[in-house]
This record gives sequence, C-alpha cells and structure tokens, in this order.
Amino acid sequence: MRYLILAFFGLAAAWSTPNVTYLPKGATCHDYTIPVTVTSENKPWVGPRWTDNYGFIDFVTVSSTRQSAGSPLPFGNPINQTASYNISATFCTPIAPGKHSKTVLLAMHGLGFDKSYWNSPYEPDNYNFVQYAIKRGYSVFFFDRLGVGSSTKVSGYKNQLSIQVAVLSSLAKSVRQGLYTTIGKPAYLVLVGHSFGSFSSNALVAREPGIADATILTGYGLAGNAQLTLEGFAPRVARLQRPRAYSVFDSGYVTTGDVFGNIHNFFKMGAYDRAVAAFSEATKQPFAISELISLSPVYQRLDAPNFKGPTLVLSGEYDFIICQGYCPGVLDQPLRTYFRGSSDFESYIQPKTGHGLNFATNATGSYSVIFDFLLKNNI
Ligand SMILES: *[C@@H]1O[C@H](CO)[C@@H](O)[C@H](O)[C@H]1NC(C)=O
Ligand SMILES: *[C@@H]1O[C@H](CO)[C@@H](O)[C@H](O)[C@H]1NC(C)=O
Ligand SMILES: *[C@@H]1O[C@H](CO)[C@@H](O)[C@H](O)[C@H]1NC(C)=O
Ligand SMILES: *[C@@H]1O[C@H](CO)[C@@H](O)[C@H](O)[C@H]1NC(C)=O
Repeated sequence: MRYLILAFFGLAAAWSTPNVTYLPKGATCHDYTIPVTVTSENKPWVGPRWTDNYGFIDFVTVSSTRQSAGSPLPFGNPINQTASYNISATFCTPIAPGKHSKTVLLAMHGLGFDKSYWNSPYEPDNYNFVQYAIKRGYSVFFFDRLGVGSSTKVSGYKNQLSIQVAVLSSLAKSVRQGLYTTIGKPAYLVLVGHSFGSFSSNALVAREPGIADATILTGYGLAGNAQLTLEGFAPRVARLQRPRAYSVFDSGYVTTGDVFGNIHNFFKMGAYDRAVAAFSEATKQPFAISELISLSPVYQRLDAPNFKGPTLVLSGEYDFIICQGYCPGVLDQPLRTYFRGSSDFESYIQPKTGHGLNFATNATGSYSVIFDFLLKNNI
C-alpha cells in the first residue's frame, strides 16, 4: 500500500478578499461566530511532513505510485480527540417571508473554497446559490469549513473529514434549535453539500439519520480516481505560493499549481467562462492534505440505510473529480443502495458541466433542479 488516497472526493476552487461579503438580492443576512466543541475519532498523520515543494512533490509521487512499491499509509490508528473551534457562518432569509422561508438549507462547501462558494459576488444573477434560494423563498445557513475563511485555522496534517462531520453535526443541532437563525426553529432542515461538503453530509446522515429532513449532495459520487485528481491539481504548498495571503496555513495546506490545475479538476471546456475560472483561481482557498486523503472510503462509513428523507445527488456530466471525467453510468450506484431507506432517491447528471457546479455557465440550471426536487417533496 502507499500513501493511498483511493476513491474519492471533491473540492473546488474559490474565495475572495476576506471582508467583501455580498448581500444577496431580496435577502436579510446575519453573520455569526459560533463556538463548537467536538469529539471525533481521528487518524493521526504518520506520513512525512514537508517544508518545501520538493518534499511535498515526493509525497504526491509516492501517493500515485503502484501499490507494489509498498509505501506506508500516511494515517495511523484512530484515536478519540476533543477540541474547540470557532466557525464563521452566515444566515440569510427572504426579506418577505413566505411558505418556504422556514425551510433552512445548511450548506457546506468543498475543498478549494470557503463559504463564498454559495454566495459569490461574481455575477450573482448567474453564479450565486444563496441568491437563487432566496428568490425561490428559502433560507440558507452557510459556513466556512474548519480551517478556511474566518473559521479557526488548524494544521493541514490534522484537519480531516471526521472532525468536519462532528462540526457539521454540532451546527445542524444548533440550527434545528433556532440558534443562529433569525427565524427561530426551522420547519425543515436540509443538508446541502458540494464535494467535501457532500462527503461530510453523507457521513453525517449515515451516523445520525434523524438530523435532517432532506439531503442534497452536489459534486458528489464515488467513481473518482484520487491519484488522478491529486495529480490534476498540479498542487503546491499554499504558503509558498502566496506568502502574504496564506502565511496562516502550515505546510500541510496545499493548493492548485495555477489556473490550469484548477480548470483541470473543476471546469469543463464549453461550460465555463474563462473570467470565472480566473476569479475562482484568484479567490481560492487552500485545503489540508489530510482532508483530501481522509475522503477515502477506506476511512469512512457512507452507507445510510436509516436516513428516511428525500435525497438528491447532482453532479456534472464531465465531473473529473468524482466520476473521473464522465458521470453517465457511474453516478447512481452505489449511492442508491447506500440511501435505500430514502423516501425519494434521485441522481441527476447536469449536462456538459464539470465539478465546480456553482461556477459553470449553467449554474442556475443546477439550482432549478435542486429546488424543483425540494418542491416535489413538499419541503
Ligand atoms: C477590508 O478590510 C480592511 C481592514 O478593515 C480595509 O482596509 C480594506 O479596505 C477592506 N477591503 C475592502 C475591499 O472592503
Ligand atoms: C471513540 O469513542 C467511541 C464512543 O465512546 C467508541 O465507540 C470508540 O470505540 C472510540 N474509539 C477509539 C479509537 O477509542
Ligand atoms: C473564539 O472566539 C472567541 C472570541 O473572539 C475567543 O475568545 C476564543 O478564544 C476563540 N476560540 C477559539 C477556539 O479560537
Ligand atoms: C441547464 O440546466 C438545466 C437543468 O439541468 C437543463 O435542463 C438545461 O438544458 C441546461 N441548459 C443548457 C444550455 O445546457
């Protein structure tokens, strides 16, 4: 075995200057800093720690090397750990309340982004999920994943899916109680993920099936090739690439080598605008190497037979990360089986699109599928 990353994950690309928060049209929004204390079963990093790109690139090479080379896994045996963090979140609700404004979508972004993935200031009529949700009358709670944006920073050799699932669980429970909303207790809570956020949402409902009323998993599937994805980023140590912006991240945080590594994994020719790709690259957030590796199904339980709510999986036809470039025929299973208790399971292939759904030219097409699905299920 090697530093294997096996099956896979998702992630994505962008973020903007820290204090430019877009206020979606028709919305009233409130920012929160939420203290959480979580316990999770984590895998300690036993792989190499690098100080420069020479060391990191050797890790990348070894990760993609044939198993017969016998390289060790980078994670040791799990241990239970408890820690406290601050999570930066935003809650938006329609200015004019309506039938659906008490349905709260709890949105978790993927690797490469922060919470602005859902609330992009770039041509918001075309690329802003929150604004679209507000237009359809729904409320959205979205947050910076642990380690990025304004949430607490942690080492890139420690941050991993198990911690993020515990954080998501804590946030979901608080939102359910009406904490951190301006509308009191929601009538319905819907988990919405993109990529790493979808892995986290799936892992959460596998563990705590009663926690949400519906689950929307975007940029998600289990037919990716982790080695190709890691190589596809042409990744570099983040703090060496942008010393000013990324100095708060240790060397375990990595990022796309350039805009083409970003395009390779997140966009598809013919379904993106070059200026959007450039924006995505300019505003990207680094991700933890241990987050990426912790997505391997070797480490996660995703089977969610006791989750009863409707479940939509929506991914781009040409998603490189989770379908190795082509989703038809490989998106539906094994997820349909994992969600066999779901009242309405649907897998949907968004035509022509790559992994970064919110930055595809037809992003609003994906949004319409999501909200039509909720409507159909009376949520
Ligand atoms: C962001 O905040 C800093 C410090 O408060 C300020 O100097 C800067 O002008 C702000 N940037 C924008 C784009 O508002
Ligand atoms: C972590 O705690 C859980 C719950 O108490 C327990 O089931 C599990 O075995 C523990 N894991 C380890 C590695 O000690
Ligand atoms: C969270 O933020 C509060 C207020 O700024 C601060 O006192 C506390 O130390 C922070 N906690 C963590 C874990 O960073
Ligand atoms: C945009 O997406 C919607 C929903 O998948 C689809 O029906 C429509 O055909 C797409 N439009 C284009 C131009 O691909």
